[in-house]
Amino acid sequence: MAFHIPDDKLAEIRNKADIVEVISERVMLKKSGKDYSGLCPFHAEKTPSFSVSQDKQMYYCFGCGAGGDIFSFIMKSDGMKFSEAVLFLARRYGIDIPSREMTRSQREAISKREKILALNRRVMDFYAGSLVRSPAGEIARQYLKKRGISQKIIDRFKLGFAPDGWDRLSRFIARSDVKPELAESAGLIVPRNAGRGNTDNGYYDRFRNRIIFPIIDVGGQVIGFGGRVMDDSKPKYLNSPETPVYNKSKTLYGLDIARNKCRQAAMVFIVEGYFDLLALHQHGIENTVATLGTALTAAHVRRLKGYAKKTCLVFDADTAGIKAAQRSAPIFLGESMTASVMLLPEGHDPDSFVFEHGPEPFLARAQTAEGIVKFLITRAMASHGNSIEGRVGVVADIAPVIGAMTDSVARSEYAGYLADRIGADPNAVMEKIRENSGRMASNPETYRGGYGLGPEKGSGAGQDLTGSRRIERMIIAMMIQHPASIADIVQKEILEMFTDLHLKEIGQEIVKFPPSAHGDISLLMNHLEDEDDQRLVASMAMGGAGAMGGLGAMGEMRWKEKSCNRIIEQFLAGCSKKSNDLVCRIRAAEENNDHELIRQLLTEKQAQIKRRGRF
Ligand code: UTP
Ligand code: MN
Repeated sequence: MAFHIPDDKLAEIRNKADIVEVISERVMLKKSGKDYSGLCPFHAEKTPSFSVSQDKQMYYCFGCGAGGDIFSFIMKSDGMKFSEAVLFLARRYGIDIPSREMTRSQREAISKREKILALNRRVMDFYAGSLVRSPAGEIARQYLKKRGISQKIIDRFKLGFAPDGWDRLSRFIARSDVKPELAESAGLIVPRNAGRGNTDNGYYDRFRNRIIFPIIDVGGQVIGFGGRVMDDSKPKYLNSPETPVYNKSKTLYGLDIARNKCRQAAMVFIVEGYFDLLALHQHGIENTVATLGTALTAAHVRRLKGYAKKTCLVFDADTAGIKAAQRSAPIFLGESMTASVMLLPEGHDPDSFVFEHGPEPFLARAQTAEGIVKFLITRAMASHGNSIEGRVGVVADIAPVIGAMTDSVARSEYAGYLADRIGADPNAVMEKIRENSGRMASNPETYRGGYGLGPEKGSGAGQDLTGSRRIERMIIAMMIQHPASIADIVQKEILEMFTDLHLKEIGQEIVKFPPSAHGDISLLMNHLEDEDDQRLVASMAMGGAGAMGGLGAMGEMRWKEKSCNRIIEQFLAGCSKKSNDLVCRIRAAEENNDHELIRQLLTEKQAQIKRRGRF
């Protein structure tokens, strides 16, 4: 942990912040019983298995096993460290974390991320100021005017202007107390190569003489910038490089402003350019986001799922647009997100289209936009023709797309549709799709295994939840659900006998807390560094079958207090049996003269003795 946040501050944040409120800004939640449920933001799914409990202030996904408290949700969904998530929530709920409560080294340890975000905000204001005020900004003001951008949009998107010259921002930064290294890691200034001319600090500005588009995330933080030249020089657009706070393959420009409208409309337009986005917003089509000079990723789609059920991809009518649709189809299908594709007339992009025709014809086109699979079939048929080879070509193009669908019903429906469109045998088409199924799916990227569902780390074979590991998990779950059992567990030195060292560590973490904090799950979560551990603890606290891999056989991991004793006895009996087993096996191996096996078993025995001391 980067720095220690006083437990009373954590408690204050936890009391004020509401996990349902925070999560529903990122996931569409529905009330179901006394909990809330929705589509998991951490893996691809079509039916909701993500649940949020207001009472417990926890979330848990019965599909992928992700789970935790409000801090761990923010950490996972926004890619923050624990301390950052705490500061983020503290700020958001108006809780002051006085820096004097931290030691000097703690203060210094406040992450780089926080510093970069603070710097970015100041730089955004610097650029905005120079658009409004500076005489040099006149050229930028004129440019925006020429492109029809209103003052309202300039203000809402906090557009700015990076003045010409090599060190305007560098000097601004030097005047404040910010170290140039920090500004460099924020991607704002670039070190000069030797011989590139001298300046006082050896850096030059990344953005010069450009219109600036601050990139703001859904939490309102300034994470990066884009900049456009005002003439024909190259590159036309320049974006922040990847930094500790900016990841372009996860970021959608304008989502901070579009998100409420996306929810209202239940759909979102995805465009490719900064000005396309501004133009649509200006024409009242505010449920629009833009990718930033990068292909659409599964992370983008997953993020959008929190705000809309449907997307409409808007492309210029060029072949690049069709290629982009082809590339993104498996991503949408893999994420079970409905997508349609809208092509604009030759020579138009969304920006020029709405400025020329207004919003209504744009929306009318959106109404008739084809679903992405149909769209691709139409295109493939047009390009391959209706000869035998042509039809084979169409199937070859489309089979991987349909194969990427996670829903088997949809897969066979589309197979039938494709066969019908090209007049081919549905079985043969289905066969081809089966060959392709999974190959293009986004699964390795989208699937993050949970306990018992995916490979486990540091605890041996993945699915083996029988025997000792199963009961060791039960004991940990028991410690979480029935803190009264902890004393007995400590007294009987149960944890010392654990074979799963990972579980043992979690158990030891629990024991370390003062008894008063034993029932406090989020306090425990805060002390677990490892995401998998947090997940395991969350699932156990929710009493879900998730703790057992969600595979049913063991049912729920929830029991009455009085069963605790029985579990402990069972565990102890298992231990002595195992120790006996080993002795028997060694004897048998000796009889068989299996020296290799004897050696192995003896090593195991020694390890056991070391672990337990008493058997
Ligand atoms: P386009 O070249 O299609 O331009 O780039 P545009 O959006 O229509 O821009 P205007 O209307 O000429 O101003 C589409 C998007 O691709 C990214 C930008 O995000 C841009 O908005 N891009 C483009 C870059 O990142 N770098 C470039 O050099 C060009
Ligand atoms: Mn354009």
